[in-house]
Amino acid sequence: MTDVGIDAIEIHAGKLKLDLPGTFAPAKGEDPEKYTKGLGLHASSLPDVYEDIVTMGANAARKLMDRKGLEPADIGRIDVATESAFDNSKPVSTYIAGCLEQVYEGDFRHANKGERKFACVAGTQAIDDAYNWIRAGRNRGRAALVVATDTALYARGDAGEATQGAGAVAMLIDEDPSLVSLSTEQGYGSMDETDFLKPNQQFPSVDGKRSVQVYLARMREALTDYESVATDTHPDDFVMVPFHTPFPGMVRKAALLGYRHMIRDTEIEEALADEIGRQPRPEAFEDDESYLDAIAEYTDKLKGTDRYREWYARSIDPTLELARHVGNWYTGSVHVARASGLKHALENDLDITGKQLLVASYGSGAQAEVHSETVQPDWEEEIAGLDIDDQLAARRDITFEEYETVHDVHNHDEETDVDPFTSPEAEFVFDGWGRMGERQ
Ligand code: HMG
Repeated sequence: MTDVGIDAIEIHAGKLKLDLPGTFAPAKGEDPEKYTKGLGLHASSLPDVYEDIVTMGANAARKLMDRKGLEPADIGRIDVATESAFDNSKPVSTYIAGCLEQVYEGDFRHANKGERKFACVAGTQAIDDAYNWIRAGRNRGRAALVVATDTALYARGDAGEATQGAGAVAMLIDEDPSLVSLSTEQGYGSMDETDFLKPNQQFPSVDGKRSVQVYLARMREALTDYESVATDTHPDDFVMVPFHTPFPGMVRKAALLGYRHMIRDTEIEEALADEIGRQPRPEAFEDDESYLDAIAEYTDKLKGTDRYREWYARSIDPTLELARHVGNWYTGSVHVARASGLKHALENDLDITGKQLLVASYGSGAQAEVHSETVQPDWEEEIAGLDIDDQLAARRDITFEEYETVHDVHNHDEETDVDPFTSPEAEFVFDGWGRMGERQ
């Protein structure tokens, strides 16, 4: 069967930067290390007043189409994943297609367009849909465009405010992909949860502490499900493990859970069996409190071991490099984590062709999904095309007062008319309701 996966990726970051330790922490009267060390974040990328989910998505998609030399006729499907949609009827993909049609010959008249929603996991679900469409042979040789785009904003004063971010990731899904091919095996952990939701409201209602526990519980279930169908399930089988990254501190917890979970049968059970004198059969221990205490103790010890630290430095830390400087992008977040890891590999001359990634997506409400990806021979060329470092360096560093103004502009409940802080060149901009134009 032909491989299907991600052929190319492009990233568009919001044009503004909110410095968390330097600007946000002093204004909030917090210790800067709460953000840099606790949450693992240094900055949020925020959208300028002329940016929204459509312009960010269209700019990422346009860059991808230009780099790959694509015309609209080469694309048979456009799916947008977002939890920041402003239209309950027309999918955001139609707005993005409308932008792109202003600058390319031809149109997307014969492309199937849609919008995927399940919080942050929707980006991965949109890739799944494209994968299935291609595998079913319905694509007529055409590729699918998946755009994950969000303005991840919280109400001011909400604990989530420090984790905000805005940006878009455009991905081309195709046969014989240049970047990564996707496994058919997947694991799911899914339950009806109410820790993070936005019922007809712009900013989420969040029980932050509970959301952390729900993330971990669903991730554990997804890993168990994945292990029931996959053959490679040991941490050392994967060169990197990109997780959904609402903030790097969350991934610190998820990585430990994942690592412990994946080595559990073979190593923890044996170690514990010796310690508490029982046979290494997990089901026999399920309700045994001494066993559960021993597991907790073992996990605490594990995170201090050289072996775990080395695995974390090699497999997790590289995937967090971009997130530290942009915050949570909701649907785009796990795809930024993958790009971050691959970018690190390129910059450090790592030979990862043919190696596997274990990709762990998550969306509130709540669902975790785990699958593996195989790095393809042309990955270096694809990743070398990313200009995300230049974008991050070019962001305008805003003051706290400017941040409040920008936040108000993007709050759909308030009418605010302010001048932009930056000036885009040859990009799509939002210049009024229903009009997406390219600023010359
Ligand atoms: P908080 O309650 O303000 O922070 O917000 P905290 O007091 O829990 O501190 C955070 C960490 O910093 C802790 O580390 C502190 O110890 C540490 P931990 O114990 O967790 O390892 N800390 C410090 N470290 C060094 N120096 C200091 C210092 N002070 C504290 N001085 C919370 C945290 C997560 C609740 C908040 O950010 C929040 O509500 N975020 C939004 C929800 C969220 O991101 N949840 C994550 C899981 S759900 C998810 O990922 C889905 C999501 O992406 C949405 C979707 O799917 O659509 C959000």
